[in-house]
Amino acid sequence: MEKWWKRKVIYQIYPRSFCDSNGDGIGDIRGIISKLDYLKDLGVGALWLSPVYKSPNDDYGYDISDYKSINPEFGTLEDMDELIAQAKARDIRIIMDLVINHTSDEHGWFIKSRNREPGYEDYYIWRDGKGRKADGTFKRAPNNWSSFFTGSAWAFDETRGQYYLHLFSQKQPDLNYNNPAVYNEIKSVLEFWLERGVSGFRCDVINVIYKTSLANGKRHIALTGKEHYLSQEGCHKILNRLNEEVLSKYDAYTVGETVMVGLEEAKKLTAEERKELDTVFSFAHMETDQINNQWFKTKFKPDKFYNVLSKWQRELPWNTVYLENHDQPRSVSRFGDDKNYRMRSSAALMGLTLTLRGTPFIFEGQEIGMTNMPFTSLNQIKDISTHNVYAIAKKLHFPKKIIWKLVLASTRDNARTPMQWNDKKGAGFTTGEPWLMINPNYRIINVEKDLKSPGSVIVFTKKLIAFRDAHPDFVDAPFERIPSAKGVFCYRRGGFTVVVNLTAKKSKFRVPNGTIVLSNFARSAPGAVEPYEFTIVADK
Ligand code: GLC
Ligand code: CA
Repeated sequence: MEKWWKRKVIYQIYPRSFCDSNGDGIGDIRGIISKLDYLKDLGVGALWLSPVYKSPNDDYGYDISDYKSINPEFGTLEDMDELIAQAKARDIRIIMDLVINHTSDEHGWFIKSRNREPGYEDYYIWRDGKGRKADGTFKRAPNNWSSFFTGSAWAFDETRGQYYLHLFSQKQPDLNYNNPAVYNEIKSVLEFWLERGVSGFRCDVINVIYKTSLANGKRHIALTGKEHYLSQEGCHKILNRLNEEVLSKYDAYTVGETVMVGLEEAKKLTAEERKELDTVFSFAHMETDQINNQWFKTKFKPDKFYNVLSKWQRELPWNTVYLENHDQPRSVSRFGDDKNYRMRSSAALMGLTLTLRGTPFIFEGQEIGMTNMPFTSLNQIKDISTHNVYAIAKKLHFPKKIIWKLVLASTRDNARTPMQWNDKKGAGFTTGEPWLMINPNYRIINVEKDLKSPGSVIVFTKKLIAFRDAHPDFVDAPFERIPSAKGVFCYRRGGFTVVVNLTAKKSKFRVPNGTIVLSNFARSAPGAVEPYEFTIVADK
């Protein structure tokens, strides 16, 4: 069967920051509906919505307190149905975020579980601690595992008198997939949304859902304990069951956010005959400028980045291609140059995203080259992980300047500042007080202005998407790397050669002969590759 998700470009919306329809400073579903024509015009074929379910917002929607209702800040189920219908009328599909490793501690299941209500006792991963004290509490947590958001992965619950596991924040207790009742609940969540007409799911941290054992982990700088839960056989089995019992019946698409997954594991997760996931988000290329974990960034090294991309391009039959999402800094500030070459380098990064082999994902704002945010103080930042990292760095007596550099480079709020629609107060995002600061550069960087400027990132993005739609080589043809020069990435897709330079230096490498079909540089003839140039050359 033809896989629709190979030909479409998927656009990620972080609903809180996309468009606010009622002036409360928070983006919402009616706001998204009002921008469907814009998205259609851009050329995208599907939208992935970060979570819109009921949530107390400890991790802004990734802590769900009811999977079958909409966060009132975002609207109602009726609004959601309308979004699905209106999108469908424009041939745009909706993909929901599926966060099933954990719930919120305010979910009804957790409340029942902590109270040991019959049937719910084992919905979560509860254990006694080590070394019981006279008052019934414990000296230590059940094991030495650490959380993705720093600190211990266990929290003590007074009501139940036991610890629960939370691989993320304390308000995100992990579900227990050894309990068949939990599997059945989740199955019914999938069915609920598929019945309403959604076309698939982006599966949050999906490869950590199954914990094989709760033994102490080997010491790691980050994620002690990971060998007991990363991509376990139990996880493969659950994914296969969900696929066979639910997803395949609806021809639903899945993309797994798979943390710390290598090529072999990615192949296994996406192998057609295994029937688990359709695609994964691999992290390897996003880790080329990191030390050990996502909070420590180092200098961007283009050649290393190209090498990792190439390896995955060659070896995984079908990948996703992304450079941004709601967890990552803005790509132009990270892999491009947001000061001297903002437009050109944003366009080059977009070119890369839309010409590599795989399903392309664009994150809101990427199409206008939105940049990282110049936060000046911690209280402007809402991202819980940033607050945790800050606290640890302080405890370790890191110098203040270094801590702040770390925060600016890594905070997930870089990606979450409101969408910049126009240059009016509120940036066209809201008429009220935005939940998170708007980047002050909205007067220069915004959709309205970009749509009117021929050399803008958005105009180039539209051309690229239309070009991909019109040339099946960019979907079907293999990726083939062509040797080039330092800093320059060159590859073939069928009858086309793509040249990308992610450095500010002119290269001695030359754009090959052929017909120049698309370029972010005013190029009319072959010649030395310019700084941040992106060019597609057709053989004839
Ligand atoms: C994923 C999400 C991230 C969230 C975490 C816990 O990594 O993308 O935003 O904080 O899972 O749900
Ligand atoms: Ca609103």
